[in-house]
Amino acid sequence: MPSHPNPDELIFFVNGRKVVEKNADPEVNLLFYLRKVLHLTGTKYGCGGRGCGSCTVMVSRYDLKTKKIRHYPVIACLVPVCSLYGAAVTTVEGIGSLKTRVHPVQERLAKCHGTQCGFCSPGMAMSIYTLLRNHPEPTPEQIMEALGGNLCRCTGYRPIVESGNTFSVESTVCQMKGPGKCCMDQEEMPSVTRQEKICTKLYNRDEFQPLDPSQEPIFPPELIRMAEDPSKKRLTFQGERTAWITAVTLKDLLELKANYPKAPLVMGNTTVGPTTIFGDEFHPVFISPLGLPELYFVDSTDNGVTIGAGYTLAQLNDALHFIVSEQPKEKTKTYCALLKHLRTLAGAQIRNMATLGGHVVSRPNFSDLNPILAAGNAIINLISKEGERQIPLDGHFLERSPEANLKSEEIVSSVYIPHSTQWHFVSGLRLAQRQENSYAIVNAGMSVKFEDGTDTIKEFKMFYGSVGPTVVSADQTCKQLIGRHWDDQMLSDACQLVLSEIYIPPGAEGGMVEYRRTLIISLLFKFYLKVRRGLNRMDPQKFPDIPEKFMSALDNFPIGTPQGIQMFQCVDPYQPPQDPVGHPLMHQSAIKHATGEAVYVDDIPPINEELFLAVVTSTRAHAKIILIDVSEALAFPGVVDVITADDVPGDNNCLGEIFYAQNEVICVGQIVCTVAADTYAHARDAAKKVKIAYEDIEPRIITIEQALEHNSFLSGEKKIEQGNVEQAFKHVDQIIEGEVHVEGQEHFYLETQSFLAIPKQEDKEMVLHIATQNPSAVQEFVAAALNVPRNRITCHMKRAGGAFGGKTTKSAVLGAVSAVAANKTGRPIRFILERGDDMLITAGRHPLLGKYKIGFMNNGVIKAADVEYYVNGGCTLDESEMVIEFIVLKSENAYFIPNFRCRGRACKTNLPSNTAFRGFGFPQGTLVAESYITAVASQCDLLPEEVKEINMYKRISKTAFNQIFNPEPLRRCWKECLEKSSFYARKRDAEEFNKNNYWKKKGLAVVPMKFTVGNTEAYQNHAGALVHIYTDGSVLVLHGGCELGQGIYTKMAQVASRELNIPISYIHLLETSTVTVPNTFFTATSIGADVNGKAVQNACQILMARLQPVIRKNPKGRWEDWIAKAYEECINLSATGYFKGYQTYMDWKAEEGEPFAYYVYGASCSEVEVDCLTGAHKLLRTDIFMDAAFSINPALDIGQIEGAFIQGMGLYTIEELKYSPEGVLYSRGPDDYIIPTVTEIPEEFYVTLVRSRNPIAIYSSKGLGEAGMFLGCSVFFAISDAVAAARRQRGLTKRLTLNSPATPEVIRMACTDQFTDMIPRDDPSTFTPWSIHVS
Ligand SMILES: Cc1cc2nc3c(=O)[nH]c(=O)nc-3n(C[C@H](O)[C@H](O)[C@H](O)COP(=O)(O)OP(=O)(O)OC[C@H]3O[C@@H](n4cnc5c(N)ncnc54)[C@H](O)[C@@H]3O)c2cc1C
Ligand code: FES
Ligand code: FES
Repeated sequence: MPSHPNPDELIFFVNGRKVVEKNADPEVNLLFYLRKVLHLTGTKYGCGGRGCGSCTVMVSRYDLKTKKIRHYPVIACLVPVCSLYGAAVTTVEGIGSLKTRVHPVQERLAKCHGTQCGFCSPGMAMSIYTLLRNHPEPTPEQIMEALGGNLCRCTGYRPIVESGNTFSVESTVCQMKGPGKCCMDQEEMPSVTRQEKICTKLYNRDEFQPLDPSQEPIFPPELIRMAEDPSKKRLTFQGERTAWITAVTLKDLLELKANYPKAPLVMGNTTVGPTTIFGDEFHPVFISPLGLPELYFVDSTDNGVTIGAGYTLAQLNDALHFIVSEQPKEKTKTYCALLKHLRTLAGAQIRNMATLGGHVVSRPNFSDLNPILAAGNAIINLISKEGERQIPLDGHFLERSPEANLKSEEIVSSVYIPHSTQWHFVSGLRLAQRQENSYAIVNAGMSVKFEDGTDTIKEFKMFYGSVGPTVVSADQTCKQLIGRHWDDQMLSDACQLVLSEIYIPPGAEGGMVEYRRTLIISLLFKFYLKVRRGLNRMDPQKFPDIPEKFMSALDNFPIGTPQGIQMFQCVDPYQPPQDPVGHPLMHQSAIKHATGEAVYVDDIPPINEELFLAVVTSTRAHAKIILIDVSEALAFPGVVDVITADDVPGDNNCLGEIFYAQNEVICVGQIVCTVAADTYAHARDAAKKVKIAYEDIEPRIITIEQALEHNSFLSGEKKIEQGNVEQAFKHVDQIIEGEVHVEGQEHFYLETQSFLAIPKQEDKEMVLHIATQNPSAVQEFVAAALNVPRNRITCHMKRAGGAFGGKTTKSAVLGAVSAVAANKTGRPIRFILERGDDMLITAGRHPLLGKYKIGFMNNGVIKAADVEYYVNGGCTLDESEMVIEFIVLKSENAYFIPNFRCRGRACKTNLPSNTAFRGFGFPQGTLVAESYITAVASQCDLLPEEVKEINMYKRISKTAFNQIFNPEPLRRCWKECLEKSSFYARKRDAEEFNKNNYWKKKGLAVVPMKFTVGNTEAYQNHAGALVHIYTDGSVLVLHGGCELGQGIYTKMAQVASRELNIPISYIHLLETSTVTVPNTFFTATSIGADVNGKAVQNACQILMARLQPVIRKNPKGRWEDWIAKAYEECINLSATGYFKGYQTYMDWKAEEGEPFAYYVYGASCSEVEVDCLTGAHKLLRTDIFMDAAFSINPALDIGQIEGAFIQGMGLYTIEELKYSPEGVLYSRGPDDYIIPTVTEIPEEFYVTLVRSRNPIAIYSSKGLGEAGMFLGCSVFFAISDAVAAARRQRGLTKRLTLNSPATPEVIRMACTDQFTDMIPRDDPSTFTPWSIHVS
């Protein structure tokens, strides 16, 4: 490695301030620099470079050529700080803050309720802000495009998009009430009674500050002078291990490339970055050609266009759009194909970072552009010290043939893309798990040239991505088809040929082998149809058009701009104006979320002497630990200690949960040891040096099936039964039996598990700051691990960046892991899990296998059901027993089946232990119920909705476990959902559509829901609060609930405001802590606001009772006067409140009880369109009717419903965890675990809160945190309906039960046709698959 003793100063600007870094380290990225060096913690870490978008910032640069400033969004985690020389960075702190002025983008994001946990909010704000810097009045399409690279796990995106749309002049609403206003946009819609007036306004647009682009900060003039400085020189930066050299001229660059032939040329760093961060690549030298004008240009000629290699994909996009607008259509087919893929390739940030040159040279096998460039006969222009040359961007290049490669000293200067010609067709085709920002499962670039005026093939090119280690060319196939006519026979031969030429082995990396094989020919068929259409357009006489019903195969689903309405009850006009209960108040921290001022654990400033912790996890699923060699790690720079099970002073195992593996490992991902070092980079690198020797232990159990074989369970069976099931089966018309598999789900909270453990100097005390749902459990586990009483452990919880159940037991275990390290080293420990480690270690929703036997009459009435559930609990108990109990109790859903038996068991396997997740098993178990109802409908030739209605609870009834409930609100939700969604009319329309379209199908489904709230044991429902009134009249409310994004603090403030009869502005909520409210239960099962609300109410009522004498004496006095007086009179102004909990119980022996406090009812109708050739689907519309009783805060409740619905939709349709047969989790980041983005939300989304009564809960409200999750399965069943339509049309009468998730793979393979029949199938006994299902 060259060492540069006199490195240059790195100069750039951040938020208008000049940064001069004398020790710029090439390995340091901007995210780290912002957070840890500049202490600008608004920009968040969500994944470290895999595309979550939480670290989005704006970079601005002066373009010397155009003399213009370019503003563009980037993900800071992939920007090497050394690349920023001469740039201006704007972070969320730079656009506005509560200390200065909140920017309209931040204000609207907050006020439109676009933040919940707030962890994604700074990134969202920056994406919208950057768009506005370039387009102050963006179109709704541009807003969608700008947000495509930002993930949010809480909101369901609708309010975020809406906040962006407020800047748009083109509104997505109907405008019937004037500009930007909708016919539904009114305070009140007339209804029967005063209470039932319906509101649709969740925020008030009139409150918004206008956007004034002239107020934005100017680009620092110094940077313009620096850019224009003619005496610029080469820059060198020297880090701890690497050097960075920025060339000053092209000549200089070529010189450098010759001197350091192995050094990467860092352009967008979107390939180099991830391979060094995640792939362990190391480069001692980086070369940067940033800003060299020779690499940044567009040159258009009569025959084509040459684009500089330094152009980003966003600039390429703009350039191609311009060319397309200028040139005749026939010349632009390659450009149009590229544009189509450029719209969905990654997110806006990556498109603004990644360069054409970098894309072409890195040649990822999934490349979206290279197959099209190759099909379009593009040419690469190369330059080196030796001179210039050209190489074709063809199959040889893409397949990395050594003779077709760049020489190590060469660089790509530009890419030439020829115009297409008249008898020449070029297309790009692609299918990904998600429409945007997701690597293609298979993509292709295809082109065909015909002899002029004929359909005789003169040249044919097909390139496929994601079918092997490189993009591959179907060269042989294409050659053999030259001279053939473009007809069905040619297509059929082409399919056979290409399948034998491009062979995906059965155990190929990436899995989905049969699907990918099918896609190879399905995409070819799409191209075939497109070309036939094109030929027909050119000469309709000569070339017949494709059949009308094939037309829909041509187009992909467009990315629409979502719209919708949210309806809720208006506040009683007689309610005092100061009383905030029932109003759609903004989340109490929303502005702070949007400005980045909300403090999460890792935003807490550095603590003196603090150390960073990195984990070493097991690589074996079940093995004896033979040896742990930490010597090399201990010798690593900066390392202070390595912590193992031997260092745990107390119990290494609390309630069966193991902190550090001891003697044996029981899953891949179990923590074996941790490394504490002065920086996280040192800790992480040293952790890689720990050597562990294992000896495998048999059996290794990964799947439910294997667990059943080995009789491996975590706990006993849970069962409920009513009626006489066996007898009933004897008296039914039909019996069906089946199985449903529901795979697991990753929580994917945006903030990974985070801990700060601070040992105190006295009495073995320790203080922890944690993002948790259960501070008391952390306290319990830490105390056990340290062998101290719990009173020595203080846990502080301010907020979590999402949790969804994943921060209950897991944060307790990991809290203990960090506390042990803090205890051993005697120093504060900062333990922030990397995304990959978090996904690996903490597991998620339980995969489930449901087996059913259903007896029913031919009219659809179900008489008997015998259902068995097995969940994959993983290696320890965690919450598995509770999950199985909930499944058994809840899975009957909305249906009364007189003879009903339901059993469940949690399987013990060698996977990381699965844990609580929104809905606690209900979303999995109830999918099985909906599946058998759907199967019954199919047998009876009825619509599933008819069978649902027939079997739905009708009157006040008892559940299978004997708890009384009133299904009236359920039936109301169901009825309204059917009516208001016009289900039957739309169903008929869909059938009509399906008749006329062979390759696309529409499907609709309505699902009802009866969801129970709370916990089965009374003590699990209790809650405490502490309310202080200070002498100035301000009020501090503390309670046991954790703020996870759901807005519990906001609701608590509303409760306190009503109870104390003071404006909400008087009330402050600090944090949740084991000091202020002890012995809490977790914030989960939807009852957080219910039970803590009761405790806060109780405390407030106690205080009000104490104040009564004072108030009575001075009834007209002000609050402040009363408090001052009370203080003088020695009235205690502090009170604890307590709620004993709902008095629930469950007697499992008797199989009956009152296990739940109350029920939430709902119904949802979804309509989808499915592309039978690719398996893609589009969610056209969803209507949700949710019984909210009386909503304390309709904005928060609707936010929960929408967010949960989208999360549920993700569970049932696209989210897929991939495990190796050895139990290794492959999916460890947002790039390989696909959650919904903004493009997945319903194009039309209507949510209605239905009014009912719930006297048991505070203010007759209901807990709505989880219920919406299950309603996401209306999308699953709509897909199932569409698939059934496709199968019927293909003559397949037997209804297929889909397993969850209904991914594009599942959908495509269910839509059996000539293409699925054509692909080679492998005997499963002859190979080991790359991944397996674990349900
Ligand atoms: C989150 C994420 C999502 C993505 N999604 C997609 C997707 O959906 N579809 C898709 O196709 N791609 C996707 N990509 C990949 C992306 O397109 C490529 O990483 C990108 O195009 C590489 O360009 P770059 O400028 O960042 O290259 P860099 O990382 O800067 O460089 C990559 C390599 O190219 C070499 N190089 C760069 N420029 C030159 C040159 N001019 N001459 C010679 N060598 C050069 C470098 O030496 C290096 O070896 C994604 C990437 C990320 C991080
Ligand atoms: S943290 Fe940067 S993209 Fe996720
Ligand atoms: S608000 Fe978006 S991730 Fe929580």
